[in-house]
Amino acid sequence: MKDVFIQACRGIKPQYTPVWFMRQAGRYMPQYQKIRQKYDFLTMCKTPEIAAEVTMQPVKVLNVDAAILFSDILIPLEAMGLKIEFIDEKGPVVSPAIRTIDNLKKLKNIELNAVDFVFKAIKILIKELDVPLIGFSASPFTLATYVIEGSSSKDFFHTKKFMFSDSSGFHQLLSSLTESTIVYLNGQIKAGVNAVQIFDTWAGILSPYDYEIFCKPYVKRILESLKQTVPVIYFSSNTSGLAKHINDSGADVVSLDWRIDMKDACHLFEYKPLQGNLDPLALLGQEMEIFKRVEKILNAGKSAKAHIFNLGHGVNINTQVDTLKKVVDFVHAFKSVED
Ligand code: CP3
Repeated sequence: MKDVFIQACRGIKPQYTPVWFMRQAGRYMPQYQKIRQKYDFLTMCKTPEIAAEVTMQPVKVLNVDAAILFSDILIPLEAMGLKIEFIDEKGPVVSPAIRTIDNLKKLKNIELNAVDFVFKAIKILIKELDVPLIGFSASPFTLATYVIEGSSSKDFFHTKKFMFSDSSGFHQLLSSLTESTIVYLNGQIKAGVNAVQIFDTWAGILSPYDYEIFCKPYVKRILESLKQTVPVIYFSSNTSGLAKHINDSGADVVSLDWRIDMKDACHLFEYKPLQGNLDPLALLGQEMEIFKRVEKILNAGKSAKAHIFNLGHGVNINTQVDTLKKVVDFVHAFKSVED
């Protein structure tokens, strides 16, 4: 198996910079669309053969150095007793929305049998892939925002109302999501994933003070419970002001959005392996402008303990497959270590 990605996660500088993209399997790809026309998104996630096939599409087409399991951060919620739907043009819907302590009893501990399709997909993939497979979950806080809002949100009103008005109930919700996430991630590790990524997409809506209270302890608890079996990447967005706390979380790799200069990140994140951080929409620009930015990030990444090239968030649906291919080739041709 190609192991440049795992080497970088472990802080060893590989011969070339590994690259993969968040949301690398998805609607920007004609191969994905072809399958998606026949099945809805949830059916694709729940059918191990389809999930495995779609996971492999970008590995074959783009030549990336890691695969990420085709699934969603909300998938484990069904196995915790909630209903999830993905509605075209609207996005995910979770019901019932849990906004009070009374509703909290509807959330159960995860029933692993109910997500067996995830473990089956992983088992297929580790036989087929020649690159490492990344499993994932959301952070408890980010998952809580969906459980409380019941859908994507702009201002996270209900989340913050719950959090500030009943902090002990909110902590109960976070504890429950944390324990299920630990069981779920350990299930993925047992099934064979080579690394895991924790998506903390919405951590950046919190002040540093509240991040320390409502987010960090639960991320830390997950990291401690995984007992360093596989490298853990911590992705968050809009969190440059939280660097000190993110360092404390104990993740092996810090994944950055584009709002921070990679050079500054090398200092802020205490020379940890870093992942990122091109603005996904920069890929819609002219080639010369794209490569200028990719090269700047790669050069700055040389100062990190190790660097994994990625975007600062998921691939946008309007991205050209060919552009991503060229970025992969460019990253691979770049000299990450001096002779
Ligand atoms: O990265 C990958 O290729 C692996 C698969 C993956 C998906 N979602 C597939 C998906 C991963 C790792 C995720 C994570 C995820 N899901 C996050 C965290 C990362 C981030 O983007 O911030 C979040 C917040 C979600 C929740 C979610 N799922 C939303 C808000 C949406 C709707 C928006 C959209 O793009 O449609 C989804 C649906 C979703 N998840 C799709 C895919 C490929 C689109 C499904 C379709 O084909 O209709």
